Amino acid sequence: MKFNRRTHNNGELRAANVGEKVTLNGWVNSRRDLGGLIFITVRDRYGITQIVFEPEKQKLYETAKKLRSEFVISVEGVVRARPDGMVNPKMATGEIEVVAEKLIILNEAETPPFPISDKIDASEELRLKYRYLDLRRTELQQALLLRHKMYQIVRRFFDERDFIEVETPVLMKSTPEGARDYLVPSRLHKGKFYALPQSPQTYKQLLMVAGFDRYFQITKCFRDEDLRADRQPEFTQIDVEMSFVDTEDIFEIVEDLMKRLFKEIKNYELKLPLPRISYDEAVNKYGSDKPDLRFGLEIIHLNDVVKNSEFKVFAENSGENGIIGALLVENSADYSRSKLDALTKYVKELGAGGLIWMKINNGEIQSPIAKFLSENEKTEIINKTGAKEGDLILIIAGNKQKMLPVLGALRLEIARRNNLIDGNSEPSLLWVTDFPLLEWDEETQRFYAMHHPFTSPRIEDLPLLDSNPEKVKARAYDLVLNGNEIAGGSIRIHNRDVQEKMFRALGISEEEAEEKFGFLLNAFKYGAPPHGGIAFGFDRLAMLFAGRSSIRDVIAFPKTTSALSLMDDSPSYVSEEQLKELHIKIREDE
Ligand code: AMO
Repeated sequence: MKFNRRTHNNGELRAANVGEKVTLNGWVNSRRDLGGLIFITVRDRYGITQIVFEPEKQKLYETAKKLRSEFVISVEGVVRARPDGMVNPKMATGEIEVVAEKLIILNEAETPPFPISDKIDASEELRLKYRYLDLRRTELQQALLLRHKMYQIVRRFFDERDFIEVETPVLMKSTPEGARDYLVPSRLHKGKFYALPQSPQTYKQLLMVAGFDRYFQITKCFRDEDLRADRQPEFTQIDVEMSFVDTEDIFEIVEDLMKRLFKEIKNYELKLPLPRISYDEAVNKYGSDKPDLRFGLEIIHLNDVVKNSEFKVFAENSGENGIIGALLVENSADYSRSKLDALTKYVKELGAGGLIWMKINNGEIQSPIAKFLSENEKTEIINKTGAKEGDLILIIAGNKQKMLPVLGALRLEIARRNNLIDGNSEPSLLWVTDFPLLEWDEETQRFYAMHHPFTSPRIEDLPLLDSNPEKVKARAYDLVLNGNEIAGGSIRIHNRDVQEKMFRALGISEEEAEEKFGFLLNAFKYGAPPHGGIAFGFDRLAMLFAGRSSIRDVIAFPKTTSALSLMDDSPSYVSEEQLKELHIKIREDE
């Protein structure tokens, strides 16, 4: 079809263009028939412009009558100033309108399953099924534009600092440690599989052995794990690795990058250096290794205060492995029974035995358990929590390891209910350091690497690796923004002896290590430099900068939380021939 190409986009025309003859291309955004005139707005990703069709130009007017939402058109006309009172200050092109002289319908459109507008109440399922229509909406267009801007800033930033971008394979060896791998069957090698990378971790370390010194990559990673609002089966990392560095060098680069992003995206001056908190402190004070410090509400440990209490739940849980953890909720003595019941239900669902509440009324503790507490205990509880008239104390008692995360979740829930975070809160960006190297798993009765098996232990802790592995701290760090883990990394083991020691602690035999990681261990024989790095969850970072609460909102074609793509219906069955070629037989459910 022949049509005139646009002279301007739909966000461009201003009063200065009045009198010009222009051609616009785009989608019909809206149509109104008013007093003999037809008004339409035409939309593209740059904006919308109002077009007027006058009844005098009869043929044109008749064609305009056929226009419906989402028709694709080319329209030619003359720009004129909108009459006084009709100027729309909310629209970038609101000073003008285009009086149509020629209209070509380039394509018709069926009525879309939901309106293409900012405020819609269509379900997310429907929007995901018609993602290409959802993506026409301004908020998603802006989210993807922001993401684009972030890619460019990141690439420029690393390029300026001598980092080189290297692509690493997407078909690699399966080395499951962490999440489950996505596997790809090999046709040429019967019974063998590639895995999609959970991250380019081993490759970037090999690039350091190869002497590339400073590497970065914006790359896809794949993990078959339980999904949530901040997790997708395929997601993007900004992956970074550097040679001849220690933690401080990595912190410096990352902090500079965050400063640049905050400045260019948010026009916000980030203060450096960023605060740091150890893993132990974060977990003990905030019940989380990714604490949101936009508000206080620290966990107050009452073990010492109630260790001899007559109240059994207190006495039983105040030992070393227990916790009596309190949150002081200021000015909340008016929390109703039903609110307290809802909070109790919330913590019980997370595994707590219950929730003990105390209100300070007329200087006295008012609580269902008040009668079990001595006067001295009550005074001490008030002193230690700093509770004042009108405050509420919430207490959870139980196994320390299990209840700290519940207290952390309750802390966030209270912040949400009491609006402790508002739009004006300063961002909370911080490092969490000194992670334990290993994590004990009850189910499989073995240690797992908390980050990954190539993370270096703290040098001074090396002797503990054989005797007390649980006590060893790692040279690992996470970057946390407003309670979200946005990046994680470590200084790596670059020496074969230490790496073998680590595998032993993980219960990985020599043969298994050789079979899984032999290529890396071999490389370490040929002069591996000291090295370390970090990877950002790019989608999470974009989500936070876009002020969204789901990473799906900053991904063009995301999957649902059950890993489905509703648009193209994947995963899907494949033909018997395809399976045969891949030497695969589908097993009946056992
Ligand atoms: P890690 O596993 O901590 O480290 O991942 C780095 C960052 O990636 C993000 N992330 C995810 N984002 C969306 N969906 C997911 N399923 C998902 N999983 C992780 C998080 C996380 O902080 N190779 C190491 C990095 C290193 O040591 O250099 C790694 O992958 O924001």
